[in-house]
Amino acid sequence: MSEKSYQQLRTLSIPDTESRVLALLSKMTTNEKIGQMCQLSGDERKVSKKLRKAIKQGQVGSILNEVDLDTVNELQRIALKESRLGIPLLIGRDVIHGFNTIFPIPIAQAATWSPKIIEKCAQIAAIESSNCGINWTFAPMIDISRDPRWGRIAESLGEDPYLCKTLASSMVKGFQGENLSDTSSIAACAKHFAGYGASESGKDYNTTNIPENELRNVYFPPFKSIADSGVATFMASFSDLNGVPVTGNDWLLTDILRDEWNYHGPVVSDWEAVPQLVTHGFAFDDNDAASKACTAGIDMEMASDCYLKHLNGLMSDNSVSIEEIDSSVKRILTLKFNLGLFESAITKPNQPSSILNPHHLSIAKESAIKGCVLLKNENHILPLNKTAINTLAVIGPLADDGYEQMGTWAFDGKAYQSHTFLNALKETAENSFNINYAVGLETTRCNHHDGFCEAIDAANKADIALMVLGEEAILSGEAHCRAKIDLPGAQEQLIEAIHDTGTPIILVIMAGRPLTLEKIISKVDAILFAWHPGTMAGPAITDLLFGVESPSGKLPVTFPRAVGQIPLYYAQKNSGRPPSEENFLNIDNIKVRAPQTSFGMAATYLDTHFSPLFPFGYGLSYGQFCYSNIKLNKKAIAMGSTIEVNATVRNVGHYSAEEVVQLYIRDLVGSVTRPIKELKGFQRIFLERGKSMVVKFKLHTDELAFYNRKMELKPEAGIFNVWIGSDSNANLKTEFEVVN
Ligand code: NOJ
Repeated sequence: MSEKSYQQLRTLSIPDTESRVLALLSKMTTNEKIGQMCQLSGDERKVSKKLRKAIKQGQVGSILNEVDLDTVNELQRIALKESRLGIPLLIGRDVIHGFNTIFPIPIAQAATWSPKIIEKCAQIAAIESSNCGINWTFAPMIDISRDPRWGRIAESLGEDPYLCKTLASSMVKGFQGENLSDTSSIAACAKHFAGYGASESGKDYNTTNIPENELRNVYFPPFKSIADSGVATFMASFSDLNGVPVTGNDWLLTDILRDEWNYHGPVVSDWEAVPQLVTHGFAFDDNDAASKACTAGIDMEMASDCYLKHLNGLMSDNSVSIEEIDSSVKRILTLKFNLGLFESAITKPNQPSSILNPHHLSIAKESAIKGCVLLKNENHILPLNKTAINTLAVIGPLADDGYEQMGTWAFDGKAYQSHTFLNALKETAENSFNINYAVGLETTRCNHHDGFCEAIDAANKADIALMVLGEEAILSGEAHCRAKIDLPGAQEQLIEAIHDTGTPIILVIMAGRPLTLEKIISKVDAILFAWHPGTMAGPAITDLLFGVESPSGKLPVTFPRAVGQIPLYYAQKNSGRPPSEENFLNIDNIKVRAPQTSFGMAATYLDTHFSPLFPFGYGLSYGQFCYSNIKLNKKAIAMGSTIEVNATVRNVGHYSAEEVVQLYIRDLVGSVTRPIKELKGFQRIFLERGKSMVVKFKLHTDELAFYNRKMELKPEAGIFNVWIGSDSNANLKTEFEVVN
């Protein structure tokens, strides 16, 4: 659906819904209003007496984490038939990357750079979850993430505001469909507003300090973009933003979100984040926390009961006004009407064919294929030729583990429904080659070498060793952060042991975050970074390794060489002393007792190169793409107009393949300093071998805008560099001028 019709739909539904909301609101008691603002956790497949009573008394607006259809329907029945006003419930769930069919984790979906496939994944997740009565997902997570230690980078769409906002908007369309009231649509949630990804030291829930200019230029754009295009709800971040925890941050939740952005959907707190205002040292007690959260702009409290217990009293002593309560309840009721819950809250039992059906599995496979990133392919060892192989060794704890390949936040996927790599490989092999499987290590964290001998033996007898290593699902995700981000356990030693056999190694890595691979990179011949690819990991990886498909994923986040480089992202500022190969000081080149001087010094490290191991946007292919002939339709454009940029891309390799063509700009001089490169466009193209095409981009001067020191969003006149290429290191460049 076009942006315009999306907007029209929203506007069309407003007048009718508004009068229904007002009519209902006028009948509600204060307690019933407060009840709508409370979200409770379900009881897992049953309805406790306590919950039944609370719903009957109108004390619950939403339930989360109940996925049993009969139980959900019973909850809705109680709300509809046994509560005084019959208001249906919002049924929330973290449907993050699929429901029964598990798609790649969000960071892997971001690696597809494919808005189309992301929309399809979200649409299927909505179909499957709405079959269980779920009508609200807490996704997409659009926290800009520049710290791979942070476990939640797995749930993010990466480090870049442009990529993130483009992909997030497709995800929202997929979840919310043509119309929220369709039975297979669910409400999406923009989370965690805002800055959560910048948690200090990569530790979850930690403090964030982000200057307003950076909030507006980097962290806000994905939120603003999907607020404008109709995301149904927002979730406030757990974190402390510049000294004011978001749950009580009226500047963020009211001044920015409501007054500046004119956003009308409800804002839910994160789990027990209201009472956590006390822990933060921002509220005296739960009563004060409820007051601060409600007046700041939290419409619904998740999981805890500060609102239920205290809002009434807070109204009596005028700390919270009836207008504030009414505004929140109106937003919640509007969502319920827009979802069509007053007409169809009860979900009909689903058709068995609607979950994990062949179409869903084919999209799961396609997304996994598009999201895998080929990081290394020495001497074109990949793709493998089935007929030239006698024996393959398959080594590693993730080669045959249907559970771990699903990754974090895959509550409703089942390990036994996953297609593992080993199984898929067996199908591919048929009788054409032998497979020697040795797990090597029981888990990715395992430190003992008991399985090494068997693995070495398998490698010794094979033409090639396929190692499937990485991180188990539980090593990333919420509260699962790591201070060291290399391959955990004894995996590096296992690689060395296999390397010593002399058998070439193809390393497939499943992980929830970028890892530091410097120690092992020279020991392996190829690396396919698969993230956690979900249900169809096995068939997807097998097709990639055997050249049925060419890898086409591109990194949505920079891979550092060492943890000490973090935060490392491509859109850094230049600084006054930018690093270069000439001024890069290596520890080995410094004389003993060299005199200290700042002459020639630059923003580098002594003990590692300043560049990343793999840059943002990077990813190899079996095709080989040459970029040339970058052209502009004009040398200079006036403010308010559009420039066209194009370049020729030729596939000079031996394989037809898809490529993600990327466009970057640099605003050379700004009233605030601008990043050395900024992504402003990308296109996924298909090029047959030997063929070329001209890839065109249009750039309006509005897309060059940034927030200045007065916090005004404006493009500034001046010279811009523009690059078109296959990653953020692109060097095919030209320049244009914007004139006032
Ligand atoms: C806490 C997480 O931060 C949030 O993302 C999630 O949606 C809620 N828990 C509900 O599970």
